[in-house]
Amino acid sequence: LNNGLAQTPQMGWNSWNFFACNINETVIKETADALISTGLADLGYVYVNIDDCWSAAKRDSEGQLVPDPKTFPSGIKALADYIHGKGLKLGIYSDAGEFTCQVRPGSIYHEKDDAALFASWGVDYLKYDNCFNLGIKPQDRYPPMRDALNATGRTIFYSLCEWGVDDPALWAGKVGNSWRTTDDINDSWVSMTTIADINDEWASYAGPGGWNDPDMLEVGNGGMNYQEYRSHFSIWALMKAPLLVGCDIRNMTAETFEIISNKEVIAVNQDPLGVQGRKVYVSGSDDCLQVWAGPLSGHRLAVVLWNRCSKAATITAGWGPLGLESGTSVSIRDLWQHKEVVGDAVASYGARVGAHDCQMYIFTPQTVAHSVN
Ligand code: GLA
Repeated sequence: LNNGLAQTPQMGWNSWNFFACNINETVIKETADALISTGLADLGYVYVNIDDCWSAAKRDSEGQLVPDPKTFPSGIKALADYIHGKGLKLGIYSDAGEFTCQVRPGSIYHEKDDAALFASWGVDYLKYDNCFNLGIKPQDRYPPMRDALNATGRTIFYSLCEWGVDDPALWAGKVGNSWRTTDDINDSWVSMTTIADINDEWASYAGPGGWNDPDMLEVGNGGMNYQEYRSHFSIWALMKAPLLVGCDIRNMTAETFEIISNKEVIAVNQDPLGVQGRKVYVSGSDDCLQVWAGPLSGHRLAVVLWNRCSKAATITAGWGPLGLESGTSVSIRDLWQHKEVVGDAVASYGARVGAHDCQMYIFTPQTVAHSVN
């Protein structure tokens, strides 16, 4: 969507994956505080996004949405002020249907009122879900909210959550700043890898202004091990996915912080070229030894060697699948070890990768001296 936002994928936090409906204004404020105190905000995690369940069960007598008086007694405007006071941005959630997925009022046929209300509160981001959609095509339900947001005069990030059901990559580039390509993620290896593969199919449709969204991060929620979470974060970064942390950052472990605060991996995600990396080579049984890669600015490449097998193995990236001319000399930086790999590679590069783990690199091709004759 050409509204000036999403030149790189959005970064921040969202309440759903960890808290689901157990949210309140204190949790949201403490999360904002934690984004600042941990340094995550300085790394780019600036959106604080409230998901479903912030609203009361019914609209008021004037037909306006109201924050749940028990959990958000001070209202959303006060929360937005608090969050803006910290230099962060506030996201909210609604639904392109009669009700949200947790059966709070939806925004269909209320787009203008709701967009104006969100803007008046100082909302910076809207996630717009797909439940109770009356059987109307998403292509007809999502644009009205885009237009209503635009008409407020406030610049609001528009995140489509249509679950990939009507191939949004094919039409949402003009509608939203990102669009979900899949069903909901859950905190498991099977879910994460399945979603990565589906999101990969839409790679060519992503770019500055509009990104494929394979759903929010589960890093830190406990259902995967360190290696699996590191793979999850690396692949999401490479795929130019939104980096929306979904754990309780007030109480995260050092390992969780190490993963989500990796500056070099974040820089791949936020690279100005904005090209989604993809799966470029597979081998092994069930194709479980994988090379994922994509171009970066400055003629560099991001490369992930991803071992989806259950045993450690060596994975080799040949120059062919990476789109490098054979003989090109490449210098390699390891983004998890934070150091240069010794020795220039000229035709392929292989490394040992643990089960369900990955290695992530930036390849910088060295200038080739062409002979003139
Ligand atoms: C849907 C969305 C999720 C989340 C829940 C909230 O399932 O896909 O991301 O927002 O609704 O109810």
